[in-house]
Amino acid sequence: MIKARISGMGYYAPEKVYDNAYMEQIVETNDEWIVQRTGIKERHIAADDEYTSDLATRAAEKALENSKTAAEEIELIIVATVTPDYFTPSVACVVQKNIGAENAAAFDLNAACSGFVTALDTAEKFIAVGKYKKALVIGADALSKATDYKDRATCILFGDAAGAAVLEASDEGGLIASCIGARGKDFDKITNLAYRHDEAELEKRVSKQNGTLWMAGSEVMKFAVRKMAEAANEVVEAAGLKMSDIDLLIPHQANMRIIDGAAKRLDIDDDKVFRNLQKYGNTSAASIPVALCEALYEGRIKRGDKIIIVGFGAGLTWGAALIEW
Ligand code: UT7
Repeated sequence: MIKARISGMGYYAPEKVYDNAYMEQIVETNDEWIVQRTGIKERHIAADDEYTSDLATRAAEKALENSKTAAEEIELIIVATVTPDYFTPSVACVVQKNIGAENAAAFDLNAACSGFVTALDTAEKFIAVGKYKKALVIGADALSKATDYKDRATCILFGDAAGAAVLEASDEGGLIASCIGARGKDFDKITNLAYRHDEAELEKRVSKQNGTLWMAGSEVMKFAVRKMAEAANEVVEAAGLKMSDIDLLIPHQANMRIIDGAAKRLDIDDDKVFRNLQKYGNTSAASIPVALCEALYEGRIKRGDKIIIVGFGAGLTWGAALIEW
């Protein structure tokens, strides 16, 4: 089997920032509650005329530069997102045009916050069978476009960003184990209606507005702690390793309590757990690639390191991958 290695990464977060003091002005909340219950201090918010494809394009350009890859060399673009600019075309096709990757197949994938892991796993399959040699995998979301800013239980959580990775065929290292999964019976725990008319769903929303995201926060939180730990253990076992062999754990940055809970179950040293959600909040599909890229840029990742990325999200979905850098 051909291996698939990440040869470069990039990320982008919009300039505008909503800090907790700003959130205090728009809903009944306070900095202390937000920090204690979530760990979040600020989130980046796309401008009114800035969309998911714009964030994805910026991240993709940086990833190409970081991996010294020309856009024309890319054969596949997968964008994981739940906040596309259009229902059709895909964000991936818009990115293909923006960066000039005209030789690439392009499509979007919806696995919510598990999207980047799912996209990476998918791209790896194309590389492993020898179909493609270079792919661009992007997690990008502008959740602020779908946030109910009347709902204090959700609006304090979300931010916008994009993270991108160039994945390429290699003889060594790369994605050495992965798992993805879904529990569709809990599809109604996190929802954002598209064409479906559903009065009961609208009624759950504080704003009663279509196109906004709603979730059963505490239920999702319990699921997340358990599932992230299970998925991380699954990939370590599949790779024939032990948790003590892992150099860095990059969990989905949704809530500090979820990360702490999962890390405790995994019995992994705390200094091996990467956290940046205080700066970005929950950026959905962008959360893991932004964190992975920051860790890389900060020099916390070196060749040969074993890294777990693990996420959960709407669906309900989950996914984990063990990467040898
Ligand atoms: O990417 C996947 C997406 N999903 C998630 O990551 C969500 C995971 N869930 C969470 O992060 C947490 O459930 C939340 C942060 C959303 C909420 O934390 P919680 O500890 O589950 O709180 P809760 O929903 O049980 O609410 C506790 C109290 C409630 O008041 P009462 O009923 O006890 O009087 C809420 O009304 O906190 C209140 N509350 C707030 N208070 C101040 C909820 N939101 C806020 C707020 N500020 N922003």
